[in-house]
Amino acid sequence: MSRWNILVVGAGSREHAILWKLRQSARVGQLHCAPGNGGTPAVAESVPIRVSDVDAIADWAAGHSIDLVVVGPEDPLALGLSDRLMARGIPVLGPTAAGARIESSKRWAKELMREVGVPTADYRAFLDADEAWRYARDRSYPLVVKADGLAAGKGVVVARTPDEARRAISAAMTEAVFGDAGRTLVVEDYLEGEEMSLLAFVDGCKVAPLAPARDHKRVGDGDVGPNTGGMGTIAPTRVANAIGLEGLTHRILKPVVAALDARGIIYRGVIFANLMLTADGPKVIEFNCRLGDPETQVVLPLLADDLAEIAYATATGELRSGPLAVRPGYRCGVVLTSGGYPGPYQTGLPIEGVDRIDPDALVFHAGTRLVDGTLVTAGGRVLTVVGQGDSLAAARDHAYANVEPIHFEGAYCRHDIGVREL
Ligand code: AMP
Ligand code: GLY
Repeated sequence: MSRWNILVVGAGSREHAILWKLRQSARVGQLHCAPGNGGTPAVAESVPIRVSDVDAIADWAAGHSIDLVVVGPEDPLALGLSDRLMARGIPVLGPTAAGARIESSKRWAKELMREVGVPTADYRAFLDADEAWRYARDRSYPLVVKADGLAAGKGVVVARTPDEARRAISAAMTEAVFGDAGRTLVVEDYLEGEEMSLLAFVDGCKVAPLAPARDHKRVGDGDVGPNTGGMGTIAPTRVANAIGLEGLTHRILKPVVAALDARGIIYRGVIFANLMLTADGPKVIEFNCRLGDPETQVVLPLLADDLAEIAYATATGELRSGPLAVRPGYRCGVVLTSGGYPGPYQTGLPIEGVDRIDPDALVFHAGTRLVDGTLVTAGGRVLTVVGQGDSLAAARDHAYANVEPIHFEGAYCRHDIGVREL
């Protein structure tokens, strides 16, 4: 059996989790990570190329007999990394730039959903601030104002009052705080309900969902404070129970995948629907063109199948359809951040105790760096600690027990990850 040399692109906790899962496969030979972080050298060789340097990544992969590239973040996909790899005949998990528009243009994604009848919030898109305001002032509140393009998770404002909406429109369109990403705005109705993350592999036409997960985006306990990249996750989530994974796949993912295919877009990668379970059924908040972070850190440990085989099959159009084999039980991931995140924070602080966690708990690195053999902080989200258990309560207890031995100055985490589902 030939073994695959795999390159994972990214520097976060998600990519560390992908590498950890790939390492368990008998099909995997060498593992590389571009650029990686302070934790990834334990499982893969680091390649010092930034994720946005898509030409350099494609050249490197072509020059190092890489059999498969797995792309973590959205930016390189939107910049056409997959197009470049496919042009060189290298299989890649991640859609072309045309497919990545499902995340990189909210307007485009909304139009696609409207066209195929996938439920989402009512909206209108605008290129002009005055027109956006004339629409917004007469809607009911809260109202959601979204920058069309990629804005590092900061482009969404849930306005409680017309005045807040006016300020959000002006910030994006007149002051251009999101640059080009905010030139077009989507103004949409507020959806009330419970949120969940539905992730699935797509090989162009077949769809294979992972365990449904729940993210915790706000920085503070009780879902207060500013949005972050994600403070913790649980899987599976009971939010999916009402309709079931099969039903959600059928109603939400399959029509969108069919529409992409009908447009001649090669979508081989992961599709991630952020859903709101409303009183009128599930509605799409947004789509992402990649695995979620921190969803990946809990859904991959629940995956019983071989990730390398699934990723390779997805990248080459050979995926089996239907749900993937899932392990029993629950996983709970708690994100440890630098003090001050998502605002300004200090870096370079020594991290202690990651070697003192239980053998069956997991620590995935994000903003960490090795400096002369010492692990130090290097970003806002620093680590994800993942616990497991037969019940959600047990998985939570396990995660928090393993947060305990880890220390760095100013370390912060939410203490209520998963509490709403107990
Ligand atoms: P995003 O940055 O697009 O992931 O959005 C951040 C968060 O804003 C989402 O996770 C939701 O909690 C919230 N959000 C976005 N759109 C809506 C909406 N139409 N209704 C309610 N909440 C929303
Ligand atoms: N956890 C949400 C995301 O990855 O966008």
